[in-house]
Amino acid sequence: MHIRVLGAGAGGGFPQWNCHCRNCKGVRSGTINAQARTQSSIAVSANGEDWVLINASPDIRQQINQTPALWPKSQTQQRGTSIRSIILTDSQIDHTTGLLTLREGLPLPVYCTDVVYEDLTDAFPLFPMLKHWNGGLQRRRIKTDEDAAFTAEGAEGLIFKPIVLASNAPPYSAYRDNIVRGNNIGLQIEDSRTGNSLFYAPGCVQASPLVERTLAQAQCVLFDGTLWLDDEMITNGFSQRLGTQMGHMPVNGEEGAVALLNRFAIKRKILIHINNTNPVLDESSHAHQYLLDNNIELAYDGMHIEL
Ligand code: MLT
Ligand code: MN
Ligand code: ZN
Repeated sequence: MHIRVLGAGAGGGFPQWNCHCRNCKGVRSGTINAQARTQSSIAVSANGEDWVLINASPDIRQQINQTPALWPKSQTQQRGTSIRSIILTDSQIDHTTGLLTLREGLPLPVYCTDVVYEDLTDAFPLFPMLKHWNGGLQRRRIKTDEDAAFTAEGAEGLIFKPIVLASNAPPYSAYRDNIVRGNNIGLQIEDSRTGNSLFYAPGCVQASPLVERTLAQAQCVLFDGTLWLDDEMITNGFSQRLGTQMGHMPVNGEEGAVALLNRFAIKRKILIHINNTNPVLDESSHAHQYLLDNNIELAYDGMHIEL
């Protein structure tokens, strides 16, 4: 399986347009040792030719333009795409707004759970709106049962299994602070040829027995690295909410992502969906060194993973 990280940042990206935090200021002025990151998305492929987009970020146009594997290739048609289908893990703005940018290439199949479809039909009506563009988004259902594995158009050879996660729904959603099964899923993606599996979980506030089983089986994990500390947004003066209230476990601490990942012998442990306030982004920081000491990588835009 081929994996491309299109955007390793969280909502807002890095630097965020209106942010003057130490990291955003430092990356703009080149005074810290850090690289910019666009908003959260990956692409996966079984054959290296046809790709499934997982989450569609507001930065999708830039992400496609800097990823030759995703450029149109047909010798006979003037227009086309190597993106054969799209999977959504939730209905967050940073994971769905890119669907608007893909309108010129519709119809495209979009896999999502019932409650994500509901959010994107009612409160943020992307599905009804985009019907007006050449057949629109062709909805395919992801069930949330534990055995609800599915295949995605264009990725024959990969088996996708939804992993129900504890996180949160977007601020605009009827499910905000009151989530049900399916507001947030991770994906276990298994290559049926090699048997290797990736676990992709950009938003997870707490492990569950299912999350632990999935971590135990994975050869590679792309896991929630949003915030270093639970109160990071509060101490920066940006929010009244803890990370855990927003649906993200901190990276640091006994209840954090590093402590969780340290319990498993996974070949590659990679943090993704990194918020611009997170000190791990500064590669000269103690926080960054702490990741290296724990054998944990930090995803970056353009990262290639072969499994
Ligand atoms: C999140 O992951 O909690 C949200 O995407 C944050 C946001 O919408 O900016
Ligand atoms: Mn997000
Ligand atoms: Zn910032």
